[in-house]
Amino acid sequence: MDKIRIHGGASLAGTIAVSGAKNAALPLMAACLLTSDRLTLTNVPTLADITTLARLLAELGVEVDPGASDLPAFQPNSIDRPLQGKLALTAADISSTTAPYDLVRKMRASVLVLGPLLARFGRARVSLPGGCAIGPRPVDLHLKALTALGATIELADGYIEATAPQGLRATTIRFPFVSVGATENALMATTLAYGTSIIENAAREPEIGDLARCLVAMGADIEGIGSDRLIVRGVATLHGATYAIVPDRIETGTYAMAAGITGGTIELLGATLDHILVPAQLLAKAGVELAGTNRGVTARPHNGRLKSVDADTQPYPGFPTDLQAQFMALMAVADGRSIITENIFENRFMHVPELARMGARITVKGATAVVTGTDELIGAPVMATDLRASVSLVLAGLAARGTTTISRIYHLDRGYDRLVEKLVACGATIDRIEDNP
Ligand code: UD1
Repeated sequence: MDKIRIHGGASLAGTIAVSGAKNAALPLMAACLLTSDRLTLTNVPTLADITTLARLLAELGVEVDPGASDLPAFQPNSIDRPLQGKLALTAADISSTTAPYDLVRKMRASVLVLGPLLARFGRARVSLPGGCAIGPRPVDLHLKALTALGATIELADGYIEATAPQGLRATTIRFPFVSVGATENALMATTLAYGTSIIENAAREPEIGDLARCLVAMGADIEGIGSDRLIVRGVATLHGATYAIVPDRIETGTYAMAAGITGGTIELLGATLDHILVPAQLLAKAGVELAGTNRGVTARPHNGRLKSVDADTQPYPGFPTDLQAQFMALMAVADGRSIITENIFENRFMHVPELARMGARITVKGATAVVTGTDELIGAPVMATDLRASVSLVLAGLAARGTTTISRIYHLDRGYDRLVEKLVACGATIDRIEDNP
């Protein structure tokens, strides 16, 4: 299994093209199941998670162009031009409405096929995703929303078996707390439900807005896009569309922090500052200025050492849980003490012991981590545990004295499009090595 090796200390400078957002691409791919026409997505990032979902869709009978096995259109373009990765999906001849365990267990987001399959075909059988490294992550809200729309749901043999032979009926769905995935499943399902549905306490992440806009381009009738109250007037059928995926705000924030932690300046091509306003405010307090340009966003640290700032994760527009680990790496070398609270997921501090191996001073109590900044981190062998935890170790490695090797980097391949190439282009000494070849 490959490892990533980093010789820390270089101050990064350069330009990085931000890829399309993984968390937008996945629901948009699932949305192809709502129509028999072709859905063409552009700005699709080159990621293992995209391939996993493409394989699942192909298994259901979706025609995936380029083929699910080798995805040639995901070939990287030039580093400093936005990616044009294209994916055309046609769900004209669905041969199965079962999402099998083998594919779903690889990626929880596979559960996003549930709403669209049920809405269009009146039935779906999707393996329960099970637990994962960042807490139990149940899907009860997804199931409650679909039940409210008239589906009958049973759990048998580790599968969700959902049926709605007469089709779904519109209703008001009020989520008790914000869930990105449940909002997406409910939104997709209501587009084809009979009547007008209202989704209250909907997640407002930009990726949800992206899904809603794509659904509108496919003929859906949705009001309130960008708000926590979505009004969906069901239509009989949806049609094909071509849609460009929103730039990845988490990738943007991650590389902005790479600039901050190495004391360098990085221009993030295609990035949208509006999507990371809260992280940008915290970074400004910490001493990293993010400025919108006509090409994207530039991240530039102030002179002098980073300052400690507290952060607590919240649903959008709050500070994203998907940037918590990276921010902790930054605070590990800041001047002072930072309190970081994780409100979205249990057990999302797996990066803490690994950062500690590099000299970070962090204590965790429940959902709160106290980070006391240290003058320098020291390179060490560390292990990636989940996607965002892994990239926090990359950030720490870039700042550390000496060499850091990160193992289990398949986590990074799930969510960071050509990470090594992008960092090398900014002057980082980082490469991918084969483990004990
Ligand atoms: C999505 C993102 C993930 C991000 C997360 C929060 C994708 C593919 N993934 O994950 O990167 O970290 O949003 O911004 O877009 N919950 C329940 N019951 C449910 C659903 C969720 O209890 O039915 C809980 C979860 O365990 C968690 C919280 O709700 O504690 C928020 O989860 P949710 O917003 O649903 O996250 P995901 O959609 O899984």
